[in-house]
Formats: sequence, structure tokens, C-alpha cells
Amino acid sequence: MKRLEKDLVVLGGGPGGYTAAFRAADLGRNVTIVNNFPDLGGVCLNVGCIPSKTLLHLASVMDEATELGSAGVHFEPPKLDIEEIRKHKEGVVAKLTGGLAGMAKSRKVEVLKGYGSFESASELKVTTDEEELLLTFKDIIIATGSKAAKIPLGDSNDKRIWDSTDALALRTIPQHLAIIGGGVIGLEMASAYHALGSKITIIEMLDEIIPAADTDLKQPLLKRIKKEYEGIYTSTKLVDIKSNPDSLTLTLEGEKAPKEINCDALLVSVGRRANSKDIGLENTGVKTNERGWILVDDTMSTGVKGIYAIGDVTGDPMLAHRATHMGRVASEVACGMKSAFLPLSIPAVAYTHPEVAWIGLTEAEAKKKGIEYTKGAFPWQASGRAISEFATQGLSKALFDKTTKRLIGAGITGKHAGELLGEAVLALEMGATDEDIALTIHAHPTLSETLAVASELSLGVATDMLNKK
Ligand code: NAI
Repeated sequence: MKRLEKDLVVLGGGPGGYTAAFRAADLGRNVTIVNNFPDLGGVCLNVGCIPSKTLLHLASVMDEATELGSAGVHFEPPKLDIEEIRKHKEGVVAKLTGGLAGMAKSRKVEVLKGYGSFESASELKVTTDEEELLLTFKDIIIATGSKAAKIPLGDSNDKRIWDSTDALALRTIPQHLAIIGGGVIGLEMASAYHALGSKITIIEMLDEIIPAADTDLKQPLLKRIKKEYEGIYTSTKLVDIKSNPDSLTLTLEGEKAPKEINCDALLVSVGRRANSKDIGLENTGVKTNERGWILVDDTMSTGVKGIYAIGDVTGDPMLAHRATHMGRVASEVACGMKSAFLPLSIPAVAYTHPEVAWIGLTEAEAKKKGIEYTKGAFPWQASGRAISEFATQGLSKALFDKTTKRLIGAGITGKHAGELLGEAVLALEMGATDEDIALTIHAHPTLSETLAVASELSLGVATDMLNKK
């Protein structure tokens, strides 16, 4: 095995890994990324966030075109060419992966395509297509990400049982797509495939979809999808999958669910598992918890000298923006800087139609923790901008600590909610109070005003709606 001496190695080239690598290179280190994906960008860019948002954009434009019918603007029903849609999606991904490859080159970051596994706490074996290499390193950042969780049901060779990568490959548009797991991936793929013409059935074991978000925040989404989808079965278990020549038969157990349904494809979106197995961690002394999440402190150190871990492999929430921030911290600490990952909160967005976005404490969590809060919730039916844009299916909500008056949580549902949440994220990190947000002049007419009105409602000084006594 060829031995190579390296300075700083990053294991995994997803958003966390490439951010860590680029930051370390900018800080003067010689960096090598070991990545077993053909391109940099990981799941998020290649087979996750970016391709799914590309499809969801098409879905949202088609929805808007239909809505215009009630304003006297009529279009012909869209003609969908799945080959061209797939090419477009691949073009978006290629543009970004090409950009990343260019950035790596200009920073002189070496990218080794291969599978990395630890031989010891200072050696990584890399298996490439051609050879096996043994890298020794001064520092390493583990950024191996996560993969879709599986269910122990059905024929694993049946190509109609999908994970999110299969759904985004866009090989066919099933007439009826069933989805197990009513979380973020399930609902985003439901929005996309519904727009592409599939009937949708969602099967969720808990008593509500997107369990992490507040119930009132999900109402605008639920109101819409209850009308659009074939079925949404909560508190329901999938107990069997039978592969027939021309369909899949799903056996369900749930009070309100049918005993069986037939579908043409089944998307399994029941969470993700950390990629911490099969990378030789047992040879390093790095510790994981019972879920396989690598344990790190707020400097991203694993406790083993020179070994850091970031992103999905360190556990929930498995989100690209968490990984990128952790990646910066790990590199800065490895370069001797004082840096730590201590966010007050991490935003979450479901890019459904309408979008559901939240940050900080939910009301359910605040109640559970006994935190006293004041609240303002502004329904978008009362927003001029929302009405003029067919976007009344929305709600902006803000929670403030009763004593400090600081924003402790916010939720926005509606068109562009993910973008609008940015203001709440900054407000929360900066310790903004209800007055800070309410007294900030927001442009009119915008959807961003809705968060300001929510803050006014919390203060009892709103003029666009009746204040609660
Ligand atoms: P998730 O954890 O968001 O949702 C999984 C859902 O499946 C939950 O509602 C859970 O109760 C349900 N479930 C689990 N086992 C089940 C079973 N046997 N039968 C029926 N329901 C079952 O996981 P998801 O949607 O797979 O997403 C995975 C990760 O990817 C999450 O960490 C998510 O944050 C991240 N992600 C984030 C996106 C975003 O920020 N927009 C987009 C896509 C993924």
C-alpha cells in the first residue's frame, strides 16, 4: 500500500466537508478531501436539497399558473416532458458541482476519489478505483454524512420501493405514489410528485405529519393537501409490502386507514442514519452513541487528538446549514483559532406548498419546559400582499419570553416562508425583543410585514387586526 503524508484531511465532500476544506485552505493548510461520491457536494447537492428544490420550483410555478385561472388568466394544462425535466435538474446540479470543483482547484485543495477507513488515529486507508493508499495526517475532519433509513419490509430488489435518491432520479412518474414517513422528505416529495401528476398517499406512524413543527403552523399545509392527496393516514403502521407484477400492495394498521392500498411506487422517508459504521472508527478511540452519532464537543473535537467530526454523522438535526457551520468551526479550531459551534437555534424548513419554516422553541416545547411566553400569530388572510398573490394559506407566529421579551421561537407557513424566516433567525440570534421587531419598519406591502404584525399582536398594539384583550 502506497503511504502518503498529508496535512489536513477531510473525510467526505458534502456541504460540511467542502466548507471545512475550503476554510482550512484559506487559513493556510494543505488540504485533501477524500470523497467517494463522483462529485463534491454530497447528498445535498447531488441527490438531495438541490435537485428536490429544482423540482419543487417547477411544481410551484405550475400551481401558480393554475391559480391564475380564478383571476381570468387561463393557461393550457402543462405538458410534461420527463426527459427534459430530468436534464434540467441534472444541469442545475452540474452547474453547482462544476463550481465547487473550480473552487477546490483555485484553493489548491486536493480531491481524492475513494472510500476512506481509519487504520489508526493517525492513518486513513483510501480505496480508489485503481489502488489502496495509506494516508497519514496531522488533523482529520470526519464529514461522512448520513443515509436514508430502511424499513424491514418488502422485496429489497423491487425497484418500485424508493428512497429519496430514487425519487429524485425521476425515472418515472408513478400514477399512485405512496409515501411512508410524513416528515420533511416525504412531504416535499409529495408536493413535487403531486405537481407532476401522481396521486399521493401518506402513511405516518405518529398522530401528525411533520411532528417537529407546531400544529397551528401546519394547518395551512394540511388544509391544502387534504383536498389534493388521495389519503393522509396518521397513527398508521405499514405492516406488509407485497410486490405484484403491476403494483405494490401495502397492508396498513391504523384506525382510520384502509387495510390495504395498491400503489405504483413507495417512497420510504422514515429518517436518516449517520454514516459512522464501516469507516474504522473502532481503530481510533472516537466514541459514538447508541444511534451511531459521533460524540463531539462544541469545538467539534471527538476527544481524540486531531480528529474532529461535523454534520449529519454527529446527529440531529441532519441539515446542510448545520454541517457547514460546524465545518468552519472544526477547521478554525484545527488551525489554532478560538472558535465554537454554539448557535441559539437552527432553522428548519419544509419546502412544501405552502412552505413550513420554524426556528427556536415551538409552542409545544415551551409549554413542556414550563417557559412562560407571549405570542402573536398573524394569519395571512389579513395580509394585502398575500391576498394579491393567492398566498393566503399562511401564518406568521412569534413567541417571546414573558420576562426578557426576547424572541424565543418563530414559525412561518406560506409562500417563501423559508426565505422570510431569515429575519426571525437573525432576530433570535441577536436577542431581539418584541419591540425590536414591531418597531422595525418593514416595507409595505410585503410578506415580511407579517412577522412584524405578529410581534405587534404579541405586544397588543396591532392595528391590522384586533388585539387580544
Ligand atoms: P424526518 O425525521 O423528517 O421524518 C420521518 C418521519 O417518518 C417522521 O414523521 C416519523 O414519525 C415517520 N416514521 C418513522 N418511522 C416510520 C414508520 N415505520 N412508519 C411510518 N412513519 C414512520 O425524516 P425524513 O423526512 O426522512 O428526513 C431525513 C432528514 O433529512 C431529516 O433530518 C431532515 O431534517 C433532513 N432533510 C431536511 C430537508 C429540509 O431541510 N428541507 C429536506 C430533506 C431532508
